[in-house]
Amino acid sequence: MSDFSQPSEATLDKLKKVVGEGDWRPSSEAARYFEDPRGRFTGQACLIVMPETTEEVSRIVRICNEERLGLIPYGGGTGVVAGQLSPDSGNAIILSLERMNRIRQVMPEDFALVAEAGCILENIHAAASEHGLVYPLSMASKGSCTVGGNLATNAGGIQVLRHGNARDLCLGVEAVLPSGDVISELRPLRKNNTGYDLRHLLAGSEGTLGIITAATLVLKPQDPETVTALCASPSLNGALRLFQQLRKDLGESLSGIELLSNFGIDLVTQHFPNLKNPIGQVCDWYLLVEVGGQAGLTDRVQASLASCMEKGLLPDAVVASSEAQRAGLWDLRENTPEANRMTGAICNSDTSVPLSLIDRFITKTHEAVMGLNPGLRINSYGHVGDGNIHHNVFPPEGVEKADFVAANPAIIELIRETINEVTEDCGGSISAEHGIGRLKINDLNRYSGRAKLDAIRTIKDALDPNNIMNPGALVS
Ligand code: LAC
Ligand code: ZN
Repeated sequence: MSDFSQPSEATLDKLKKVVGEGDWRPSSEAARYFEDPRGRFTGQACLIVMPETTEEVSRIVRICNEERLGLIPYGGGTGVVAGQLSPDSGNAIILSLERMNRIRQVMPEDFALVAEAGCILENIHAAASEHGLVYPLSMASKGSCTVGGNLATNAGGIQVLRHGNARDLCLGVEAVLPSGDVISELRPLRKNNTGYDLRHLLAGSEGTLGIITAATLVLKPQDPETVTALCASPSLNGALRLFQQLRKDLGESLSGIELLSNFGIDLVTQHFPNLKNPIGQVCDWYLLVEVGGQAGLTDRVQASLASCMEKGLLPDAVVASSEAQRAGLWDLRENTPEANRMTGAICNSDTSVPLSLIDRFITKTHEAVMGLNPGLRINSYGHVGDGNIHHNVFPPEGVEKADFVAANPAIIELIRETINEVTEDCGGSISAEHGIGRLKINDLNRYSGRAKLDAIRTIKDALDPNNIMNPGALVS
């Protein structure tokens, strides 16, 4: 049964009238809203509306609530769990926040700014930088993902270790609830214990409880010194011991620490021939380390790396000596998802486990996946400082993705289940930072306790009794 009821022509006309000519599109002109970044799904919709104000969003939501129509809030379209796509019904109405892309106010003395939901993450970085400040949420999709999508999915990325997830970097939200009522809680307050924290309920709700239209974001002072280094390690266990040592030596100044493998770097350099692995001595594993802090930090990092070398934890490392070198190192990391896609990944995962079990998690997953088919290749990488590992699984060398899947129709699901089972065995989470969307509903149901699922359902029914907000995502 479809989660979306069919709107009448008269209702569609009412919705078009709210936004006005030029701010809506028919589905025939909306192909880009139907694309899945990983090419696994194709979305559908009967209308795309692009409101320009919170008031317009509220009026659209009221109409949808009266008519019992399903709405999909749409940010940058970069989500990878089909939270922004309706593959099964053409009755969906997509509400894109792209025209709500103003930075309403920068408040340097409050270390905060207010941005509308459709602001692109990179534009927030630029606005903060004009004031000598940073908004430290960052990820490979920063040039297209948006503030609203970041918050609705509680996005993570590459600096969570030091600065937290999107939720931790948000002081308040303005949001339209399923009734059409507007919550406006944009004050830049660090402390505000006035009842249930609706900001934190909406963050991570994946558009199922309301539409975030603006947010007050945390800004931080720029670090006077930043050091970026690529560190080699001959073994996974060695790389993890190196991480532990760097954490002890550098404490809170360690902003991000990303695990890469030689296999993964090879994939990136094959597909992006202008990129190079700058380390001469080829090792199986690498850590991309970024550290930020006060003057003198560079010396501390150099001393820590030298001491790790003396201890035998670090056979080789390259420290970026220019902004271009720093960007080159990050390009190796940030092009990893694209290289995985181009190589023909058949399965991608997003697991977090306790830091103490990362080695076991990766080793056991590789064993279990190879147990399904010894030719499968795996690129394991990710935000090791957060215990958040992504596995990308590829067909055997020389076998095309389409041929392999056609010959092994159950393989994708089997790999997913296998990774989920090892995740569960390691006390981990089946979705560390990508959310549930439509892709992981069964996994959420399988690995969550009854009480949690009941509470989610109760909250959803209370706030969205007509199930108009992103029906079919997250809540089943
Ligand atoms: C990454 C995305 C896939 O870390 O989360 O590359
Ligand atoms: Zn990630």
